[in-house]
Amino acid sequence: MVRNDAHAGYRPGSLRKMFQDVSDEYDLLNRLLTFGLDRRWRARATTSCLEDSPGAILDLCCGTGDLLFTILRRAHGGSRVLGLDFTEAMIGRASMAAGRSKPLVLADAGHLPFRGESFDCVAIAFSFRNLLYKNPAIDRYLAEVLRVLRPGGHFVIVETSQPESDVLRKVYHAYLRTIVPFVGGAASGNKGAYTYLSKSATNFPAPEEVATVLRGAGFSEVGFEPLLLGMVGIHKATKQAGSEKES
Ligand SMILES: C[S@@+](CC[C@H](N)C(=O)[O-])C[C@H]1O[C@@H](n2cnc3c(N)ncnc32)[C@H](O)[C@@H]1O
Repeated sequence: MVRNDAHAGYRPGSLRKMFQDVSDEYDLLNRLLTFGLDRRWRARATTSCLEDSPGAILDLCCGTGDLLFTILRRAHGGSRVLGLDFTEAMIGRASMAAGRSKPLVLADAGHLPFRGESFDCVAIAFSFRNLLYKNPAIDRYLAEVLRVLRPGGHFVIVETSQPESDVLRKVYHAYLRTIVPFVGGAASGNKGAYTYLSKSATNFPAPEEVATVLRGAGFSEVGFEPLLLGMVGIHKATKQAGSEKES
């Protein structure tokens, strides 16, 4: 597992414990707090991911598998689709839902147990925030994504975002600061987890800043598709041949 707990703010061990604690209520709260729209957003990310008919797809930080199963349902029969997460309770729920097939790997996103150039698409749903928030070592995680992608492959990120309109952003942040910790805390018994969600979402960078981070890590052709007036969005970036940085 990644040992960068010493970095200010980013503590993989605490994050894992937090997701371990909220895993039972996680799916229900996603539906409640997004009024059921989260499924639509993952479906849109799936469409983006499947655009070039990728043969091998990784759902990074797959949690209980919502994106993974959407991709599995829609990908062409010959594709290899895997989910990866570092929280046993989250991936355990995905494993139960997967039935006999177990397209799941328990590992840290900072040390992907795959050979270089193994995937045509790496997708991540509502977890890029976890990797980026207060994490000075984000480049190491992005370098791993870049390493396992084939040249021409895509990194698709569906995540909360920042609406351009000041008024809308204020309303959205007020919702994140008040309703989310209240409802999330009441339903899960872990107010801290939903306060963390609120903080990491209100502080999540605007699309152009995310694009700068992705370009800085070596990705190119970085694009953004706003969803729900920019409260959520899909970032898509490409690995070009020779774009991996020397480490
Ligand atoms: C907010 S949940 C999102 C789960 C799922 N992608 C979804 O769309 O519902 C974040 C997930 O990221 C996982 N995660 C966070 N940091 C991780 C890391 N460094 N390596 C692997 N998984 C990580 C957590 O265990 C958790 O399951």
